[in-house]
Amino acid sequence: MTTALSQHKVESILYLNGVNKSFDGFKAINNLALDIAPGELRAIIGPNGAGKSTMMDIITGKTKPDSGEVRFKDYIDLTKHDEADIANLGIGRKFQKPTVIESLTIWQNLDLALAGGRGIWQAMFATLSGEQKARIEQVLDMIGLYEKRAELAVNLSHGQKQWLEIGMLFIQEPEVLLVDEPAGGMTDVETMETARLLKDISQNHSVIVVEHDMEFVRALESKVTVLHEGSVIAEGSLDQVSAQERVIEVYLGR
Ligand SMILES: Nc1ncnc2c1ncn2[C@@H]1O[C@H](COP(=O)(O)OP(=O)(O)O)[C@@H](O)[C@H]1O
Ligand SMILES: [Mg+2]
Repeated sequence: MTTALSQHKVESILYLNGVNKSFDGFKAINNLALDIAPGELRAIIGPNGAGKSTMMDIITGKTKPDSGEVRFKDYIDLTKHDEADIANLGIGRKFQKPTVIESLTIWQNLDLALAGGRGIWQAMFATLSGEQKARIEQVLDMIGLYEKRAELAVNLSHGQKQWLEIGMLFIQEPEVLLVDEPAGGMTDVETMETARLLKDISQNHSVIVVEHDMEFVRALESKVTVLHEGSVIAEGSLDQVSAQERVIEVYLGR
């Protein structure tokens, strides 16, 4: 294709502007603006109730904004798409609660995620192509669970389950990964491993990660956006935003 659109260089993988969302008169998202470049790794921080998860809900189509622009790759208006469409467009989300199937092995969980629409029966009994096997092995390696591939997921630590979950999202090859509080409940070592994993993924994907753990956010070495009461109050490196009066007041100083 040689249309103007196919030659267009993407400026923003995700672009939000003037976004508002109220729940029963309570303004959870207030004139929110966010601009994520292709391939960027961005950390979103902010106190409880700041609107971080609601922002993710709006990007993924789970929640419709009352007003404002929400765009994917500059030209796709996400407010006109539903949740299933948005996932198919290439925006993948990892929720706080794991969706790993504990009675299956690590390999089978990845196989199932790779199968996507093919369903559990296909995933369990269909013969995998060499390409599919290689893909599963590549992801196992990336999430550090290759040696454990034949074990049941129930035997994984909390941190390992989260990595499997990230692997299950990654194997579906989304362009953008949204990750909500991956380090919650992890040991310090697991937390640092998770930062490494997300940095790895961000080498050729855009990643937005919401997290409370400051050591984790520091290890990401990414640009940080601070949300408060549904708006961005600061943006920059962790050191830059941590030095801002308003941020100390509403978040770091608590
Ligand atoms: N579906 C909903 N109905 C009513 N209130 C909601 C709903 N979702 C979120 N909220 C409210 O919106 C605010 C932002 O919530 P949330 O986005 O979950 O914050 P965060 O993830 O930053 O902790 C909170 O005050 C929360 O209670
Ligand atoms: Mg949340």
